[in-house]
Amino acid sequence: MRKIIIGNWKMNGDKRLIDEFAPLLSTSSYDCVMCPPFTLIDVARSNFPASVFVGAQDCSMFDNGAHTGEISCKQIFDVGGTHVIIGHNERRANNGDSDEVVAQKVKCAIRNKLIPIVCIGESKEEYDCGKTIEIVKKQISSLLQGEGIDVAKFFIAYEPIWAIGTGRTPTVSEVDEIHGHIYKFCGIYPVYGGSITYENHKDFLNLNSVTGLLIGGTSLNSKDFSKILSCLD
Ligand code: 13P
Repeated sequence: MRKIIIGNWKMNGDKRLIDEFAPLLSTSSYDCVMCPPFTLIDVARSNFPASVFVGAQDCSMFDNGAHTGEISCKQIFDVGGTHVIIGHNERRANNGDSDEVVAQKVKCAIRNKLIPIVCIGESKEEYDCGKTIEIVKKQISSLLQGEGIDVAKFFIAYEPIWAIGTGRTPTVSEVDEIHGHIYKFCGIYPVYGGSITYENHKDFLNLNSVTGLLIGGTSLNSKDFSKILSCLD
């Protein structure tokens, strides 16, 4: 199975960035999912090569209705979105996405034909206390509770909170070990995310326990991101 490279533009980018990326995404050794802000999903789908999947960074836990400001999974699907990042730490921390809300959103996404990319990971304090395994186990078990959750239908992204946008990463062997535990808990190896750069990406991607990468800052750099996709040295 091909590994997957997921770009998370967060609240960055505009139509000009879509134009800049579009010609650079046609050569890829990996499956690629680009997740721009909602407003750019449609234009990304129209301009990116067909081989590139386009996804959203969040979705509503409701199918439709009186939820002002929310975007539904059906609406994401309608403009060509195929994937959706759910439970990113920036949403867990700032927008009230608890484990329960995350589980509801995952069910809603699957119901509406989107592939969820569910983020889990520990804080710096939890890492320092050696609680990483305990935390990811809890996040996964809350995810797997209830009906309609089939791990074969989604990706898990292991993103240690302290590695997001900080330039710091766990060591390669720590990631390998944690991914091994995640496999034991749910039967799938996750993608890794947190401070991935062109320079360090291969160290993680080469691990058998790494299904792919979820890339923030570096996914806004068209040169580095397309070099990662095309495996150029
Ligand atoms: P950085 O790659 O900027 O650390 O962000 C990681 C991330 O949050 C991807 O979802």
